[in-house]
Order: sequence, then C-alpha cells, then structure tokens
Amino acid sequence: MERRRTVWGKLVAVLVVLSVCASMASGGCRSQETKEKNSIRVGVSLYRGDDTFINNIRSELENQAKEYEKETGIKVKLDILDAKGNQNTQNNQVERFLSLGCDVVCINPVDRMVASGMIDKAMAAGIPVVFFNRQPVEEDMNRWDQLYYVGADAKESAVLEGQILVDLYRENPGALDVNGDGVVSYVMLEGESSHQDSLIRTEWSIQTLKDGGVPIEKITGGIANWERSQASAIVEQWLKDYQDTIELIISNNDDMALGAIDAIERAGVVQKINLVGIDATTPGLDAVQSGKMLGTVSSDKEKYAWAIMQIAAAKALGREIPEEIPLESGKYYWCGQQIIQKKQ
Ligand code: GAL
Repeated sequence: MERRRTVWGKLVAVLVVLSVCASMASGGCRSQETKEKNSIRVGVSLYRGDDTFINNIRSELENQAKEYEKETGIKVKLDILDAKGNQNTQNNQVERFLSLGCDVVCINPVDRMVASGMIDKAMAAGIPVVFFNRQPVEEDMNRWDQLYYVGADAKESAVLEGQILVDLYRENPGALDVNGDGVVSYVMLEGESSHQDSLIRTEWSIQTLKDGGVPIEKITGGIANWERSQASAIVEQWLKDYQDTIELIISNNDDMALGAIDAIERAGVVQKINLVGIDATTPGLDAVQSGKMLGTVSSDKEKYAWAIMQIAAAKALGREIPEEIPLESGKYYWCGQQIIQKKQ
C-alpha cells in the first residue's frame, strides 16, 4: 500500500513537470506570467530634465511609483532618462527601453511633430506608449489603440491665467492700470513656437482679458522657449526699450515669469509691474507667496503623475485602465487645473 502511494506520487510529480514544460514550449507560460506578474518595468524619456515643470512631474512620478508598489505589492522598476532636447537621443532611448523588455514606455517627446518614428518601433515591439505634456499630432495618436496622452488643457490654463487678471481688474482697476491712463499695457512671454501650449495660451489669456472687459494694449511679445534665462535677457531689453510703460507681463509659464522678475530686480525698476504665469512649479509658488507674482495656474502634478502611472501600470499588466481615469476618445487624459494666489 505504502509502496503504491509512492509510485503514484512520483507519477503525479512527473506529469506536473511535463505539463509545465509543455506550456512553456507553447508560449503558455507567458500568459501565465502576465497574469501573475509581480513586477513591471516602465521606461520614461523626458524631453529635457532641466525643465522646471518637467522636473516637478518627474519627482511626482517617482512618488507615484512608490505609492503604486505600496498599494498593490507590485514592484515598479522605473527607468527615467533625459533626452536633453535631442530627438535622436530620445529615439535611441526608446529603442533601448524596447529592447530591454520594458512593459510600457512613457514619452515626453522632444519634437512632438515626429512622434511617428517612436510609435513605429513601439508598435513593432507590441509595447504600449503613454505620451505626456507634449502632445503628438492627432494623426499619429490615431495610428494605434495602445497610445495614450496625459496633459493639461492649454485653453483651460490660459483662461484661468486671464481670470486672475480679470478678477483683479474688476475689484480694483488701478491695481492693473498702474499709471491710470485707462489701458493696461502688457508684454507677452511665449514658450517654444512648436509647442501646442504656446499659441493657445497666448491667444486665450488675451481673449479672456478682452471678454472680461479689461482694456488692454500690447506693447510687444517674444519667444523665450519656457526658459528663465532667455526670458530674463529679453525682458532686460524691453525694460530699456519701453521704459516705464510696461504695466503687466503675461507669461506662458512660471519659469519665464521668474526670468522677468530677475531682469526687473537687476534693473532696479521701482514702478509696479504685475506678472502672471502658469505651472505652479516650486519656485513659481514661492514667487506667488512672496508677492512677486500675482498668481499662477496649477495642473495638479500629483494627479498628473498618478494618471501616467495608473495607465502605464494597467497596460504593463495587460489590465483595463481603471474607471477613475476618464479617457477622452479612449486615449486622452486631461488633468484638472486651478488658480493659485497668495494665501492670506
Ligand atoms: C508646458 C509647461 C512649460 C514647459 C513645457 C515643456 O506645459 O508649462 O513650463 O515645461 O510644458 O514641454
């Protein structure tokens, strides 16, 4: 009896081993593995690691990856690379992520107009992509149902930025029309010309002022590519060219507004110049809190990074994207935004 049981036991063990091997050979092991994955590998390529807003998103992504691990027990191997503003570098980084076996790739494109090359590679490897912040053209986004985009709506940012000024003007016109001549004379600092946010933010901040009944007059405008140092140099020149006439600086983002503040402080300008920005970056929030900037617009960075991580993880695990992430046209997630002003 004892001996028969041992023989049966051995036979069962052999059958189990055989069936496991057969399923491995047929590729069945892969689906088994996907079902029970306890770690995922996520490759992230940033257009520029030295961009303040992107840097804030990066830190949040790292936090969100840890949160995800804590909540689910699934390990997240997050590889974040900086493309340093070079599309070729980014193409190589993406190729490397794909060949290293990443389960999903998150891309903040250097040149959003040429995302198709990276999409081709991802499609060939069957690896989903979550783009963020720099929106590929619709035609590219529609090439595959495994492409997603996370961002903040540019028109919404601009309307909120304009609203800060409309509210202030309604409360006290003299706070904006500093010299009391009946018009608010402004200059505009713009981001990269190829970025979807620049044109739309420029247009809608002004439209909101007009719709809100603020009498405005443009003195001049310039492109400072989101950069503090470029904005600082441009504004330094404007302060010389348009002495004492600038009452308001509208900036497409906080970093350029901060550059303008640097120039104003360097030049020792004494008359009041109001400034508004967008992003609510860490230094941007400091400038609002210290009264150097009238206000900014925050796209909830925690939620932004949370959405990227949730979509990426769901795709990596072969799961449905959670219902708490409403996707427009099945692929776009728009992060909510709000006005930030000095806490009283
Ligand atoms: C914008 C942001 C800018 C800059 C840019 C980079 O949305 O406001 O500060 O980070 O993205 O693509």
